[in-house]
Amino acid sequence: MKYFLICILIAGCSAPEKINHESYNETHRPQVHFSPKANWMNDPNGMVYYNSTYHLFFQYYPDSTVWGPMHWGHATSKDLIHWQQQPIALYPDSLGYIFSGSAVIDKDNTSGFGKNGIAPMVAIFTHHDPKGEKEGRNDFQNQSLAYSLDEGKTWVKYEGNPVIKNPGIKDFRDPKVHWFEEGKKWVMALAAADRIIFYSSKDLKTWNKESEFGNNVGAHGGVWECPDIFPLEYMGKKVWILIVNINPGGPNGGSATQYFTGDFDGKTFSPYQTDTRWLDYGPDEYAGVTWSNTGERKIFLGWMSNWQYANVVPTEKWRSAMTIPRELALEKEDSLYMVASQPVKELDVLDKTSVNLKNIDAGNFDLTSKTGKISGPVYLNISSDKIKSFSITLSNTLNEKVVIGYDESANNYFIDRTKSGKTNFEKDFASKSIAPRLSSAENVNMILVIDDVSVEMFADNGLLVMTAIFFPNENFSRIHIGSQNDFKIKELTFHALKGIRH
Ligand code: FRU
Repeated sequence: MKYFLICILIAGCSAPEKINHESYNETHRPQVHFSPKANWMNDPNGMVYYNSTYHLFFQYYPDSTVWGPMHWGHATSKDLIHWQQQPIALYPDSLGYIFSGSAVIDKDNTSGFGKNGIAPMVAIFTHHDPKGEKEGRNDFQNQSLAYSLDEGKTWVKYEGNPVIKNPGIKDFRDPKVHWFEEGKKWVMALAAADRIIFYSSKDLKTWNKESEFGNNVGAHGGVWECPDIFPLEYMGKKVWILIVNINPGGPNGGSATQYFTGDFDGKTFSPYQTDTRWLDYGPDEYAGVTWSNTGERKIFLGWMSNWQYANVVPTEKWRSAMTIPRELALEKEDSLYMVASQPVKELDVLDKTSVNLKNIDAGNFDLTSKTGKISGPVYLNISSDKIKSFSITLSNTLNEKVVIGYDESANNYFIDRTKSGKTNFEKDFASKSIAPRLSSAENVNMILVIDDVSVEMFADNGLLVMTAIFFPNENFSRIHIGSQNDFKIKELTFHALKGIRH
């Protein structure tokens, strides 16, 4: 009662979240991935690390389980794995809905938003004006600022919004800002229909256009959205990675994340490659970008769904989850720089029991005979000296299954969810997704992060990633490995994982 009274006196205050263990056990609720307690979620937004806390903001519609007027929801974590959902951070206002964007810690108070030595957390986002859109105008998406002096709990919108006015481009959104130390300035990558526009600023408020990139390179099967740009190093060589999400036009239909490697001088991005590369070939990773303020580490998170069916997936109380956070690294394959992803090492806080097996004949191997019936999320790591066609089948007593594997004749990895249970909510959901193997190594390794409703596959040290969701009528309880060839698994490590609310 006392808390309630204090709360109604302090604007913006809301009761601390009580973890209700039961509420994370609904049918199809992910157990090791962040999902909102209730209602609609899409893109991760404003990801920033500050004072030992990871902040995750996200596209959120608190009044329904389908997309609607966008807010920024908020969750925090100390370890990237256990999340605490916080009160809504940003609400729609007279300039429109709050679409995707980023957040930075303005350490030097370049914006002047800081007070009493407190560095402001500044959110840079798109204001989407639904009225302008309805009227058929082209300038209804503009870039705006908000800041927080209490670590993201309460926010003030900048009175000078918008800070970048729309020049007449219908799709003009999703600003991702970072501090470009060499030029002592802020740099923004902004998605503008079929290209990325770079802007720079000394104070986050006044922005100058620097250059455009990409209208004639990469994939263009849909509109470009949610970019990100950051450097990664490979043996002392600094390579800039430009992430560009695209919808539709992904390699297995609908939404997906592509990337370019190149140089960046604070003005212009000069690509090393003009072909299309995908950070994740599966159908269910989208709008993925990285955390800011994490030093040398680059940690990536995507929305684990696809615009093709996100609004109709069969979950009742909430819709969608995020991927497992992924550590990005630069690799070199046949003289090409490539980005590799791995689940963050923090995931091992969830290890419950483990089984380690060596020299398995993978012809017809029931893993469950060694581990016991599967009853929850699993981390599986397998490696072999040779690569041959093989499959890993997750199944239940209803004969529903998801098959993950490698096909040597086509040199493809695949995830087949055609018989995975509930699939008829959308005509193309019952699909087999494929991805060309990018590595030419003779050996193979594969990590699978398996949740009750998703699998993330990291093959060849994370050079090839595929994410897929599924909705079985009964959770998968068996894992079977099969191969038509003489395929030996040199080592297999199985970890049963605790759920993040247990
Ligand atoms: C990507 C996206 C963004 C936009 C947001 C709206 O999924 O379409 O481009 O800002 O979602 O919710």
